[in-house]
Amino acid sequence: LGVVGAGVVVSALPSRSGAATRPGAQARTAGEGLVGAPLPRIEGPLKVRGAAPYAAEFTFAGMVYAALAFSTIAKGRIISIDTGAAEAAPGFVHVMTHVNAPRMRPMMPWASSEKAAGNDAWPIMQDDRVRWNGQPIAVVLAETQEQADHAASLISATYEEEPATTSFAQAKANGTETAVLGGQPVHIEIGDAEAALAAAAVSVDATFHTPYQNHNAIEPHAVTVAWHGNELEVHDASQSVVHNAWSLAQILGIEEHQVHVTSPYVGGSFGGKFMGMHQVLAAASSRLSGRPVRLTLSRAGVYRLVGGRALTEQRLALGAGRDGRFVALIHTGTSTHTPDSPHPELAQFVSYSSYATGTLKIDLQWAHLDMVANAAMRAPGEAVGSFALESAVDEVAVALGMDPIELRIRNEPQADPLTGLPFSSRNIVEAWRAGAKRFGWERRNPTPRAVRQGDWLIGMGCGAGSHMYARESGGAARLTLTKHGTATIDIAAHDAGMGTATVLTQITADQLALRLDQVRLRAADSALPGVVPGIGSSQTTTAAATIIAAQRKAVAELLKLLRRDSPLAGLTADEVTPRDGGLAKTDDPARHESYSSILTRARRDELVVEATGGNPTESEQYSMYSYAAVFCEVRVNAVTGEIRVSRLLGSMDCGRVVNARTAAGQFRGGMVMAIGLALTEETLYDERTARIMNPSLSEYHVPVHADVPEIDVIWTGIPDPQAPLGARGIGELSMNGTAAAIANAVHNATGTRVRRLPITLDQLL
Ligand code: MOS
Repeated sequence: LGVVGAGVVVSALPSRSGAATRPGAQARTAGEGLVGAPLPRIEGPLKVRGAAPYAAEFTFAGMVYAALAFSTIAKGRIISIDTGAAEAAPGFVHVMTHVNAPRMRPMMPWASSEKAAGNDAWPIMQDDRVRWNGQPIAVVLAETQEQADHAASLISATYEEEPATTSFAQAKANGTETAVLGGQPVHIEIGDAEAALAAAAVSVDATFHTPYQNHNAIEPHAVTVAWHGNELEVHDASQSVVHNAWSLAQILGIEEHQVHVTSPYVGGSFGGKFMGMHQVLAAASSRLSGRPVRLTLSRAGVYRLVGGRALTEQRLALGAGRDGRFVALIHTGTSTHTPDSPHPELAQFVSYSSYATGTLKIDLQWAHLDMVANAAMRAPGEAVGSFALESAVDEVAVALGMDPIELRIRNEPQADPLTGLPFSSRNIVEAWRAGAKRFGWERRNPTPRAVRQGDWLIGMGCGAGSHMYARESGGAARLTLTKHGTATIDIAAHDAGMGTATVLTQITADQLALRLDQVRLRAADSALPGVVPGIGSSQTTTAAATIIAAQRKAVAELLKLLRRDSPLAGLTADEVTPRDGGLAKTDDPARHESYSSILTRARRDELVVEATGGNPTESEQYSMYSYAAVFCEVRVNAVTGEIRVSRLLGSMDCGRVVNARTAAGQFRGGMVMAIGLALTEETLYDERTARIMNPSLSEYHVPVHADVPEIDVIWTGIPDPQAPLGARGIGELSMNGTAAAIANAVHNATGTRVRRLPITLDQLL
């Protein structure tokens, strides 16, 4: 998803502070001012040359290849597994089933412990129970991948089937329960929203449907493992190396320090690459066979084991006065769930803080199915919730005959509508105005089905998105400064393609006033400091806070090492600033000594400091979100119903942008994924058996180049005074609002309001 959009222009709005990078700005590569520069990825050349090792490219002497066999029923008991034919197959080495698997503890789901990162609490291959259709029932090891795949295909099992809940309708009929998040039921009522809705001058009250979706990172999940005595070496494709090392230790019954997980390069994660079953299966089968193991999930294996976005049915009701002010907002609904899943598809979350409204009603119900636990998937909840909310806002605008952007601006809250907390920084109005101007919104004809070129109906639509700011409390980093004037920053953060490695190097160089080539980042290794999962668009803020803290600590230590004849002698930390590869008196830059000189004259080879980022108290004192205003133009063929997104613009308000190039890539990536959400992606379950019917890229359609237009992105660049470096999260932001912008453009083009994703041509004919 990171390769789309060749030839598009990276651009930014002039900001109040002037901090944003303007088109054509020269990339600065030295010292202060690096933050914001559109630097290319530092690992880009390695990746292009194929020299960046991914999890399935590490090798060990004597390594064997794994393939999985999957259950073919949704619920029941395994009576027998026939492995005879597999064992007789060429290259066969070993087979593990629940019969011979080592005893292991169950998976630890997210939030059950600080470093837990699983999607369920199920035991892995520990008993004869079948819990979902596609559960791994055997791991076959062979000398080559092809031999392993072939041998696994020869495994057969007999089952004692039990009645299973395999459809959403059946699950609802069984009875739902109120979802729980953080120990709290998801149910909020402010005022009498139903009465306010009934009395509203204008209202919409509609049901929206969004489908199951699966993860489809370019790199399927993979892991290469080797045991060295009781020590386990793991090369993973992960967005949570520290969590995974801890989790594997828990499950396997060894100590955390006995597991070493690295994940230097990852081909996309999006919430799908936390702790999974495949790492456990690889480690256990390696232990049993005495051979290092590489387990690469097939594309179908990713679907069967990893899960994805849960299905939602949402009621979105919005009541407004003639003046457009919202008097009632009701966002309730049901999503599918498995008993231990820590990932409620909280579509309703988007309605907590988006608009000022007289009354509010929120409720999420869970319907339990016998299926693989769902996973977090880029902007969980918000992506599908913003589709419903922003479609409904558009419907109200049509009913009022009001411009949808003006309607949104009319309902801007002055403080967080739910908590009453002040916003740290909210400039969505500015983002709307700038986006509208750049997109040519004034050329939009508000009358549906009014613009036609030949057979093509043309429409414009917009949608808002938001993403909650997050910073992890486990952030820590180690900074090493050498007498050669170079620095190394060690932090167990992850780069799954987002540009994190580049951005953290950039921040470190900026903080120390070093050149980029003087700074080395070591990351994505469980032996490094910090608990910094690549989650919730929080990595950059979490890491930035620790890098800032480490720099402060290093400055304090450097001042202690100064010789009496140093130009800086006698100065305190408050009086100096990093400058030109060293420190300078803030108001007299001529008083300067380089790191190299300070350390050399103190007869030190290096200075090492460790620092933590501390607790993120800012998000307790302020309502903090990043904001997106998304504009879309579609062309819909009046004869065939074919839908083409012809233009997309994202206008962001996300605080300071740390790297204009990688940020633009993130924004475009989210919008591409949202085209999939709006128009093409749907995991199809056979409702009789709960088996996924389209577990491949040939039948599950992700947007390809032909589906993706030029995507323009701009941002306000206004720093957030409460966030480290002024930067809020950006990774998941543009996933939100885009699907509604597309749906609203489809309505403007055709006059048809589609409330069921994906919007397929049959719904328009
Ligand atoms: Mo994410 S869905 O927090 O990787």
